Amino acid sequence: MKINKIFVAFAVLLVCVLGYGVYTHNKGNETSKQQENKEVKVGVLQLLSHPALDQIYKGLEDGLAKEGYVVGKNLKIDLQNAQGDQSNLASMGQKLVSDNNDILVGITTPATLSLSNSTKDKPIIMAGITYPVEAGLIQTEDKPGNNITGVSDRTPIKQQLEIMKKVLPNMKKVGILYTASEDNAVKQAQEAEKLAKELGLETKTATVANTNDIQQVTENLASQTDAIFVPIDNTIASAMATVVKVTDAKKIPVFPSADTMVADGGVLGLGVDQYKIGLETAKVVAKVLKGEDTKTMPIVLANEGVIYLNEAKAKQLGIEIPKDIKDKAKIVDKK
Ligand code: TRP
Repeated sequence: MKINKIFVAFAVLLVCVLGYGVYTHNKGNETSKQQENKEVKVGVLQLLSHPALDQIYKGLEDGLAKEGYVVGKNLKIDLQNAQGDQSNLASMGQKLVSDNNDILVGITTPATLSLSNSTKDKPIIMAGITYPVEAGLIQTEDKPGNNITGVSDRTPIKQQLEIMKKVLPNMKKVGILYTASEDNAVKQAQEAEKLAKELGLETKTATVANTNDIQQVTENLASQTDAIFVPIDNTIASAMATVVKVTDAKKIPVFPSADTMVADGGVLGLGVDQYKIGLETAKVVAKVLKGEDTKTMPIVLANEGVIYLNEAKAKQLGIEIPKDIKDKAKIVDKK
């Protein structure tokens, strides 16, 4: 008798648990089916093409697929590339807004600013923006307060300079190369100058206006310094080949802030995996598509501070990388 009762109680419990399982499973399927059927439109504005930004875009597309949004199935991406042109940026930003995209993604600070000038309601997700508050895009990193949120690619400049000192113990004077019109680069350069001085280094800063004067400015800077630091700078990133041609001739190592820039001829950099910035951005896009409010979504810092090393370049310049740094580093030599 007693055993029977226990058995019945168990059976009832089992049916309940199984039933609930089947119920939630079906519910899950329903939502993913809805997601599959409804097409989502994502408008992406990219300032220009350089390897870092192209990697961010690739990460975004792959990341969205991981979140269940697949191009050609339930996702349409309208990618607009302004080719570095300010008037293109403005018109493309407006077009992406009027074309009824569900959500917008800005790759670079100027691209995101253009989108934010075009809409104050449609959600805008930042893909690797260095200083979103200072750029005037959001109120605070914890609480954007408007239609913008996303991922920052800020890099730890102090650690980068410390590693440079370890790699080049005899370095006395460090050059800082950046673009005068790129606010994010200007701010990083100023910080680098201050931190380098604190570390007992002399500094010399040099700015370019655009890609046309990179060669001359780099030549001048390389002849006065022991090594060159390059912050996160779109113009320099798009012309690394020009920079490296000059610095190689003078045997001056370049220490940039992005993995792709190290691969493009820098020696070593401490920074963020650009592809990962794209993946992280996709996660934010998915959250907003599912109803989260940008106003209260803190900025994601995609800052894992990985050391990227171009071994071939170090060898070419005769630079011995200390073992502890080499052991930690990710090799990014171009094959
Ligand atoms: N952070 C840059 C901006 O705010 C864009 C950017 C992302 C970038 N990754 C980069 C620039 C790598 C140079 C190199 O505009």
